[in-house]
Amino acid sequence: MFKTIIEDIKAVKRNDPAAKNYVEVLLCHTPLHAIMMHRFSHVINNIGIPILPRFISAINRFLTGVEIHPAAKIGKGFFIDHGTGVVIGETAEIGDNCVIFHNVTLGGTGKHIDKRHPTLGNNVLVGTGAILLGPIFIGNNVKIGADTTIIMKDVPSNCTVVGTPGQIVRLNGKKVRIKLKKAAYKHTNGIKDKLAWETK
Ligand SMILES: CC(C)(COP(=O)(O)OP(=O)(O)OC[C@H]1O[C@@H](n2cnc3c(N)ncnc32)[C@H](O)[C@@H]1OP(=O)(O)O)[C@@H](O)C(=O)NCCC(=O)NCCS
Repeated sequence: MFKTIIEDIKAVKRNDPAAKNYVEVLLCHTPLHAIMMHRFSHVINNIGIPILPRFISAINRFLTGVEIHPAAKIGKGFFIDHGTGVVIGETAEIGDNCVIFHNVTLGGTGKHIDKRHPTLGNNVLVGTGAILLGPIFIGNNVKIGADTTIIMKDVPSNCTVVGTPGQIVRLNGKKVRIKLKKAAYKHTNGIKDKLAWETK
């Protein structure tokens, strides 16, 4: 857990041009505090301690405006900018070195059971106000523009998606305009299924 937190601290320095030094980051970067509290609540959630993880998550939301379910799996080097209004659901999975801005929702549609929330690959940026709903896969090295909506659609690796409904506007560095494909949502094992999906 401590190694992961150190990566999270480095992620603030890497991603936030306003971050002057590590002391300032540790004292003043509220979304980092939210991530740290999540790392702790996730560990005690995994141990199987009841109620306390959700209680910590509730306090976290009260203090930082960031709501992360204790069961959500988040990779190292995670960076949230500004933070307020971020919602990350119970079965969401986030790869390494991802960036999320304020008012992003990684939520469910209300129609699914078990795996209900998005799975993000590595190096994914999700712009402010973006809404990602359902058990969908977002590939590696993806940028999702501010105010983009992606509902029950998968996103391939190495692309940029913008708009409502989200469309691919950049793929492997080239400008394109491609509709997203319907989510292959029969997955229950998150990252493992994502790897299978990518190698299909
Ligand atoms: C999507 C984004 C990451 C840029 O990615 P990119 O791969 O460099 O994409 P480009 O800038 O080349 O834009 C590609 C096209 O999408 C359009 N576009 C970019 N972002 C968009 C958005 N959020 N909504 C709608 N269209 C958008 C561009 O105007 C461009 O259109 P064009 O092909 O007609 O010229 C960036 O625009 C963005 O939305 N970042 C979010 C940052 C954020 O949330 N900041 C909050 C700070 S407080």
